[in-house]
Amino acid sequence: MNLQKRNEEMRAFFALRIDGYDAVHEEFLPTKNVLTEAMPQDAHRILDIGAGTGLELFALFARFPHAEVTAVDICTEMLSRLAERPFAARVKCVCGDFFTTDLGTGYDAVISTSALHHFAPKDKLLLYRRILDALHPGGVFLNSDYIALSSQEEADRFAAYRDNDGSIPHIDTPLTPEHEHRLLIAAGFSNVTAEPTTRRNYLLFNAIKP
Ligand SMILES: C[S@@+](CC[C@H](N)C(=O)[O-])C[C@H]1O[C@@H](n2cnc3c(N)ncnc32)[C@H](O)[C@@H]1O
Repeated sequence: MNLQKRNEEMRAFFALRIDGYDAVHEEFLPTKNVLTEAMPQDAHRILDIGAGTGLELFALFARFPHAEVTAVDICTEMLSRLAERPFAARVKCVCGDFFTTDLGTGYDAVISTSALHHFAPKDKLLLYRRILDALHPGGVFLNSDYIALSSQEEADRFAAYRDNDGSIPHIDTPLTPEHEHRLLIAAGFSNVTAEPTTRRNYLLFNAIKP
């Protein structure tokens, strides 16, 4: 999987579907809101990677009205919608690729919802190391995302992506929970847990920077 090509596919896919995005993702709101429930009480500086239109931030600002959020996304159109939200004044939007853009440092929490189930394990490992670097010691990474329910499903998705001749516009490539766990530990996180959400194939990963 070529990372640059994958990122461009992501950007173009979401740019084309911006008008229907919130309606499609409304039913996933409970999987996004669990992240706020798991957030430490004293979280203040928060980085949201793949923030999109910011659906997960409604619950977050309801609980942490004074939070300072940096939202990184590769798709200008998605961030433009986020910039219209009632909480936009508390969000710094950064349009860029989270694999290469300067993410900043010293965050209490890095969060992500529905945004990381598209990448090869070796690229994810690099991203998880970047996230670790962005946190202060003791900071938390909370990722609510789509997972593969078996190694076979994981392999089948990557094969489908590889064999796609372009006729299918979007193929998800989620990893199993065990694979995610291994990558988070390899990146340097500790206390890695995976909690269920309202959907069987969505989990909330919680990992601490030692
Ligand atoms: C399914 S949306 C999730 C948006 C939001 N977090 C939510 O839960 O509704 C995935 C988002 O990840 C962004 N994305 C994908 N790859 C990216 C990359 N390499 N760098 C930054 N953003 C990326 C897409 O542009 C898109 O807005």
